[in-house]
Amino acid sequence: PRPGWTAEADVVVIGSGVAGLTVALRCAAAGAAVTVVTKARLDDGSTRWAQGGIAAALGEGDTPAQHLDDTLVAGAGLCDEQAVRTLVTEGPDAVRRLIGTGARFDTDAAGEILLTREGGHHRSRIAHAGGDATGAEISRALVAAVRAAGIRTIEHALVLDLLKDAQGRAAGVSLHVMGEGQHDGVGAVRARAVVLATGGMGQVFSATTNPAVSTGDGVALALRAGAEISDLEFVQFHPTVLWLGPGAEGQLPLVSEAVRGEGAHLVDADGRRFMVGQHELAELAPRDIVAKGIMRRMRETGAGHMYLDARHFGARMWAERFPTILAACRAHGIDPVTEPIPVAPAAHYASGGVRTDLSGRSTVPGLYACGEVACTGVHGANRLASNSLLEGLVFAERIAADITAAGHAPGEPVAPGEEPAEPLPAPEARHTIQRIMTAGAGVLRSEESLATAAERLQALAQAPEKPAEPGTESWETANLLLVARVLVAAARLREETRGSHWREDHPERDEAAWSRHLLVTLRPDRT
Ligand code: SIN
Repeated sequence: PRPGWTAEADVVVIGSGVAGLTVALRCAAAGAAVTVVTKARLDDGSTRWAQGGIAAALGEGDTPAQHLDDTLVAGAGLCDEQAVRTLVTEGPDAVRRLIGTGARFDTDAAGEILLTREGGHHRSRIAHAGGDATGAEISRALVAAVRAAGIRTIEHALVLDLLKDAQGRAAGVSLHVMGEGQHDGVGAVRARAVVLATGGMGQVFSATTNPAVSTGDGVALALRAGAEISDLEFVQFHPTVLWLGPGAEGQLPLVSEAVRGEGAHLVDADGRRFMVGQHELAELAPRDIVAKGIMRRMRETGAGHMYLDARHFGARMWAERFPTILAACRAHGIDPVTEPIPVAPAAHYASGGVRTDLSGRSTVPGLYACGEVACTGVHGANRLASNSLLEGLVFAERIAADITAAGHAPGEPVAPGEEPAEPLPAPEARHTIQRIMTAGAGVLRSEESLATAAERLQALAQAPEKPAEPGTESWETANLLLVARVLVAAARLREETRGSHWREDHPERDEAAWSRHLLVTLRPDRT
């Protein structure tokens, strides 16, 4: 659709989690005129749901080199070592600067930051806040700082497409604002740099820890703009999500790995610790190994879930250390102080996304990506727990440095391309997409399941159940459909099992054929 109004900025940041708000703050501090566009309110999005914490080598005896090793092992051979080295070396100071911005982490009586463990970490290096409300505290501090800095924000605005100048450089975005007044309807923000910080795509699956806004908008925009996308087949399933019954759909409560980090055990219905003997770290093995361990035991026993047993924490520790999880469990009639918590894996994190370099630059000049939407190379085939908030922070600072060092003027956007050839799907198709993806491209995949998913998604794209009028929900559904199709195509091609990509028909890791990344580009301006 053609924009009905236009606003101007030096930098437009799409998304308001840790990545987007950090880019905005650092660019504004360097004197750039920044506009933050976000789909709901500033504090909505995935960051505020993060529980366990943020990983950094802050503890006595820990080093970036050890953090590097753990990240590379979790990434199952597909991490970009230079990107990981950047992450772990710049991480500790980035966390200190976040504290300087106002985030309050849990400390001991001497004021030292308390650190816990999570899956795949051989050391205690996870800083946390409010016990298990780390993301909420980071979001609170960054939103307050953005407001104090007077950064312009446009809330309730879904980004539609990238605008480019005649040289093919990013020149702004078109967006649809659901509100009253000056910026209502479809408009455009012109800018010389566009930063995608739109988060993930968990909503392509039926059961996820992600909020309803995680619909893959940034990856879909980047695909339509002709940017390179990588590693989309690596969707991380969090092993311990509160099990609310066989048909539970939508955003489900997370039970943080930090609960295992503090000593909780995974058990089956008979109370047997099935992770012991499967990996030297047992329940604290990397996330993909624990998720697979749970799925295998579920299959062996015919159960719909396993249990996380932390009764031995006692009432006081539960209330002080994990107040968010305790409240979520009790809201669903489960008391973790007196009974084991039913848990099962659910979609949690997209390790792939918009391919970037170490300054967050995508393959389209002037278009950057940061946080979950990006594929910087730090996660490889399986993200190490609590590296994502850190990635958002570290690469946000690098992006801000790159943007503010470049002095060129914004280009004049050329008219947006033709309307997409395929009809917009109706909002209700979201559930159909989620069910197709869960059945065909979930934790367990095979050529047969993926081919069925591909066929059904293609049918939905070409002949929607009910074509829709343009609007936020139908555009979101179109984004889900596009990223789902690319994800399935990548998962079909990767005929091996590695990290979070588990092919039942190719159960082994294939170093000779698959120590490489799948890169995807679409022809610009087409879906
Ligand atoms: C958790 O708290 O278990 C989530 C940590 C993460 O996804 O990095």
